Amino acid sequence: MPIQFDSETGIFQIDTKNTSYQMKVDDKKNLIHTYYGAKIDADDLYKELFMIDRGFSGNPHDVGKYDRTYSLDVLPQEYSCFGTGDYRITGLHVQEDNGARVASLKYEKSEIYEKLLGIPGLPAIYNDTENKCYTLSIFLKDYANGLSVELRYGVIEELDVITRSAIIRNEGTKKVYLLKAASMNLDFQFGDYDFITFYGRHAMERNVSRSEIHHGVQSVGSVRGTSSHHYNPFSIICDKNATEQTGECYGFSFVYSGEFLMEAEKDQADQVRFICGIHPDDFKWVLNPGDEFNTPQVIMSYSDTGLAKLSQNFHHTIADHIVRGEWKHKERPVLINNWEGTFFDFNGDKLYNIAKDAKALGVDMFVMDDGWFGKRDDDNSGLGDWYPNEKKLGCTLKELGDKITGLGMRFGIWFEPEMISEDSDLYRAHPDWALIAPDRAPGLGRNQLVLDMSRDDVCDYILERMSDILSNAPISYVKWDMNRSISDKYSHRLDTEHEGELSHRFVLGVYIILETLHNKFPSVLFEGCSGGGGRFDAGMMYYTPQIWLSDDTDAICRTSIQYGTSFCYPISTVGAHVSVVPNQQAGRISPLSTRAAVAMAGTFGYELDITKMTDEDKESVIKEIKFFKEYYELIHEGNYFRLSTPKDIATAWEMAARDESEALVTVVYHGVEANPAPAHFKVYGLNPDKKYTVKYVGDTENAVEEKYQGHVYTGRTLAKAGITIAPALEEFGSYQLHITSKD
Ligand code: DGJ
Repeated sequence: MPIQFDSETGIFQIDTKNTSYQMKVDDKKNLIHTYYGAKIDADDLYKELFMIDRGFSGNPHDVGKYDRTYSLDVLPQEYSCFGTGDYRITGLHVQEDNGARVASLKYEKSEIYEKLLGIPGLPAIYNDTENKCYTLSIFLKDYANGLSVELRYGVIEELDVITRSAIIRNEGTKKVYLLKAASMNLDFQFGDYDFITFYGRHAMERNVSRSEIHHGVQSVGSVRGTSSHHYNPFSIICDKNATEQTGECYGFSFVYSGEFLMEAEKDQADQVRFICGIHPDDFKWVLNPGDEFNTPQVIMSYSDTGLAKLSQNFHHTIADHIVRGEWKHKERPVLINNWEGTFFDFNGDKLYNIAKDAKALGVDMFVMDDGWFGKRDDDNSGLGDWYPNEKKLGCTLKELGDKITGLGMRFGIWFEPEMISEDSDLYRAHPDWALIAPDRAPGLGRNQLVLDMSRDDVCDYILERMSDILSNAPISYVKWDMNRSISDKYSHRLDTEHEGELSHRFVLGVYIILETLHNKFPSVLFEGCSGGGGRFDAGMMYYTPQIWLSDDTDAICRTSIQYGTSFCYPISTVGAHVSVVPNQQAGRISPLSTRAAVAMAGTFGYELDITKMTDEDKESVIKEIKFFKEYYELIHEGNYFRLSTPKDIATAWEMAARDESEALVTVVYHGVEANPAPAHFKVYGLNPDKKYTVKYVGDTENAVEEKYQGHVYTGRTLAKAGITIAPALEEFGSYQLHITSKD
């Protein structure tokens, strides 16, 4: 059993394959965090705590007046509270009905389960694999106000994963307001760390920021209603010298799609505290006697062999324990989406012709994007009116779907369920369904308003409309979009006291619809989207196995977005398409082969008017799709390695088969030079003692001189000495190399 509790010493220890997590209930009944890192024995590390009298770091009353060394202001804790002498960032901030802002949690009891426990209404890791999973629940209690906090630790032994979440119950007799209810608190007593976070903007998401954790508070978060393009709810705390292959690193993925805060603070004693949870700025939850509040889950993992292993732990956790349903490990269809091909300018015939040509080249699915419903010939109207525009399509939705599926393709469709246009029948009928504060003109984003998803009547309407559409046409894919940040937070349904619950209730409403659709239409593949990657988080992945990565489809920008994304999220979740050049967002011209090689590090598809392609390009498309399908298993199920950064001479990444039999390396050069220097990469994840042949494959095979082909090396040589990659022969040229022990 990887979870042990010694009731004599009060020590809890959780062990995974390579890690240990230790805490102790001390003689004051406080739950003290003593260790998280590489696997150790269950020795009592509480003894290593250094306690001295620190001025202005007070002492709890129950310590006794002559011990001034015991202070919550410096002790490493499992779940810190505001108001009782811990002046660092804290996890729990409550206000009692009498106005007091204090909380003090004492150990009560614990329970251990040989399974994972779900969280009502929220996404969370689950298990249907052979991996052994466990849960530890530790119950803490505030005896003054009756609040009980259950700290939950889910364990996936094999993947070195421990999850954190908290359930806060009001077991008292009076109302309590939750002002901050974090999902986790992790204290590091020692170490010099960097904080790696992922920042961005619309059409340029998940750039990497790495900086030293210094004294004070550093944080990333979102108050936009969604997790956002601007900061991703994933971060890493790592040894300042950690690299892809060396060093200690801790990762935190918040399984939540709404407003979040990830904070790190280095304190007066050079300790680091990390807190993650729902963003408290616009959160105030009323907890009446008998009520409980479930915080979302955080997935944590640790690696002492660098960032690559840490990322792989997250990739396999998300692919195996977050993504659900029929599409979990099923080959995803290569799709063609009409958005960048036609934008709003289409009719049924135009779409059918694109589908027909795409089918001839090997594409599996046609996706009809925005503009098929209500009055919607641009992005100023129609949202909410989820009725097909038969006049525009020239036929019913079913007729169009039948024609496309008649080609032997799947048919997919776009929705933006959380939105409402002022110019829509829905808004004219239900103006109070939009988030608008009284006596104010609401702020617009893309000229649209946001529906109040905290209302059950709104959710019922969306469910009814989507169910009707999905039931009456042969649809096997839905793209769920969301195209603005939320403002003007006011629900016409909530009373004043509960308005502070709106942001979280909004997310719960979205999850209810997604969960209902997931159960009602199990064969439909859902792709998440929020103007590209504005809601690219593990919470959405529980409902949508793939998410459109970015509205920037430029291959070179995408190498950077995909690089940042890869720190947490597996390739199978990355929506990626080939689009036209010059690229419509960046203006860049890159070769079709490079655009395809980059999109293959994702779900793969095309987003252009294929009827306008030259015959030569069409021939390439046939080859690209064939290539992708041949390597599908390796690409989507293998171990991912970043071989360079986007700032290097070329961006390179590798998928290595889990059985170490082969690898596929992709290298995208960022430019061309006269008299060039070549790129050079080490190749990981192969058997050191086996021999492998290195072959250039894919669309650029013939461009590579003979001398680069067919070299044979052991896995050890590949990982230690590496290989030299032929310089690019054209601007933004790329190569794919198959490294195999098979022949
Ligand atoms: C934003 C998405 O990211 C695009 O792919 C496209 O679906 C548009 N919305 C449609 O309005």
